Amino acid sequence: MKITLHIWRQKDSKSAGKMVRYDMPGISEHMSFLEMLDVLNEELVLKGDDPVAFEHDCREGICGSCGFMIGGVAHGPMPGTTVCQLHMRHFKDGDELVLEPWRAKAFPVIRDLVVDRTAFDRIIAAGGFVTVSTGSAPDGNAIPVPKKNSDLAMDAAACIGCGACVAACPNAAAALFTGAKMSHLGLLPQGQPERARRARAMVAAADREGFGGCTLHGECEAVCPKAIHLDVIARMNREFLTASLAAWWRGR
Ligand code: SF4
Ligand code: FES
Repeated sequence: MKITLHIWRQKDSKSAGKMVRYDMPGISEHMSFLEMLDVLNEELVLKGDDPVAFEHDCREGICGSCGFMIGGVAHGPMPGTTVCQLHMRHFKDGDELVLEPWRAKAFPVIRDLVVDRTAFDRIIAAGGFVTVSTGSAPDGNAIPVPKKNSDLAMDAAACIGCGACVAACPNAAAALFTGAKMSHLGLLPQGQPERARRARAMVAAADREGFGGCTLHGECEAVCPKAIHLDVIARMNREFLTASLAAWWRGR
């Protein structure tokens, strides 16, 4: 099949970027999307041109490294699928595809399709952890967890930190990501002692990083490759409000 790509090329965060057209004849429908870009990059390198920079690691949909906009949709047209799990059989012969990096103030472009997502790391560093002396692995049933809570915590823990939710949001909010991380710890007994502090610290960190406020458009849920539900945002807002009111009541 023949695919035409229009790819955002940007040398570094300070340079201006532009769209560049690449015609790709002879693409196999069995290739993954990233393999198709590997083929393009081999051709570019052989011609002495700079390859297109894109991020990837596992190529199995679990690490969260990959991700860019394909035709204006974060991770492309297949629901619940990361870019690395997308295959060329999902496209038609003659398709023209526009590839762009995530667009958000808190995710500055590093090069081509690669953005700096360390803002997410700083949200986690603010409170997305449990401060306990864990010692050796405890017995599986030592701390009983209600089935409903363990299921919800596991669903939230599926977030791979890819950033698609931010890219899809008209406010560039990080609410689905922050809510997922907060939910996965706050629903478990081990996460209770730091729950209030965590809620305030992570929301404040997201604000500091320049992410926008959530106005519940739901675009994040629509593009999330791990089907993280909007419920995590409601839980985050409730935890933040409860923690803030308690702090105000105590006078700090
Ligand atoms: S909530 Fe979904 S879209 Fe957002 S970072 Fe996590 S996995 Fe990616
Ligand atoms: S490369 Fe790891 S999720 Fe895509």
